[in-house]
Amino acid sequence: MSLYEVEHVSRRYGRAGTGASVLAVDDVSLTVEAGQRLGIVGESGSGKSTLVRMMAALDAPSSGVIRFGGEVVSHRRERDLAGLRSSVQLVFQDPRSSLDPRMRVGAVITEPLRSRLLRDRGDVPKDHRSRLAEVLASVDLPLEVAGRFPHELSGGQRQRVAIARALAPGPQVLIADEPVSALDVSVRAQVLNLVRDLVTAHGLTLVMVSHDLTVVRHVCDSVVVMRHGRVEEQGPSEQVYEDPQSAYTKELLAAIPRLRI
Ligand SMILES: Nc1ncnc2c1ncn2[C@@H]1O[C@H](COP(=O)(O)OP(=O)(O)O)[C@@H](O)[C@H]1O
Ligand SMILES: [Mg+2]
Repeated sequence: MSLYEVEHVSRRYGRAGTGASVLAVDDVSLTVEAGQRLGIVGESGSGKSTLVRMMAALDAPSSGVIRFGGEVVSHRRERDLAGLRSSVQLVFQDPRSSLDPRMRVGAVITEPLRSRLLRDRGDVPKDHRSRLAEVLASVDLPLEVAGRFPHELSGGQRQRVAIARALAPGPQVLIADEPVSALDVSVRAQVLNLVRDLVTAHGLTLVMVSHDLTVVRHVCDSVVVMRHGRVEEQGPSEQVYEDPQSAYTKELLAAIPRLRI
């Protein structure tokens, strides 16, 4: 049994008031094994974010089924998703919008550990402080950052905070959607190396989305190429990068500027 099983999943979005709709994900099937580092690549609008949002059960497929650890997680009510919620954490593209600007970094990072009640008070309970120190150290940020607000940090630091927040509950799977796309080119490689090292150190399963094939090649052992909502090609990274089968993948690879990272 694979950790994730995505079977014939489609997602159609209606266009409000127009009667028109767009098939964002079109009959996608894939599996993710425990410990795998899967990269999902494709140009903007190819359905990457929609696919991983469904894998994180933030959105439901229009058809098809997604299993996590053998349990169906598509079309489940929130209260039936405890297993997935505790095992899968996300990092989004832009930490400016994914981190609550009114919360100090310490509270942001420990929020996934806290009950609703404490969350409303915004306190960091004592037993969470050691976890906070641990995860801040693991993303190479000084402890003093805990007292600052996200907007007081650089883009790279903010994304480290988002990564620390994802790691805090001790997940099994990290889903990262374009984790370095919003960052200055100068800090992308650092943050990417950090993700790779943390995934290795904690034995995590990684699903990483990028429109940039170089980014995925740097970190992932296997790759899915998406186009117009469909899987164009998939396989081990070496195979897809060295010997692409689809004309579209060849085109994408040929378009990569050399020596980007
Ligand atoms: N919430 C939404 N409502 C309507 N259309 C959407 C929504 N999210 C995405 N889409 C459309 O679905 C397609 C795939 O989008 P997306 O999954 O964001 O692609 P990617 O992440 O590869 O750029 C695009 O045509 C996009 O405009
Ligand atoms: Mg996207």
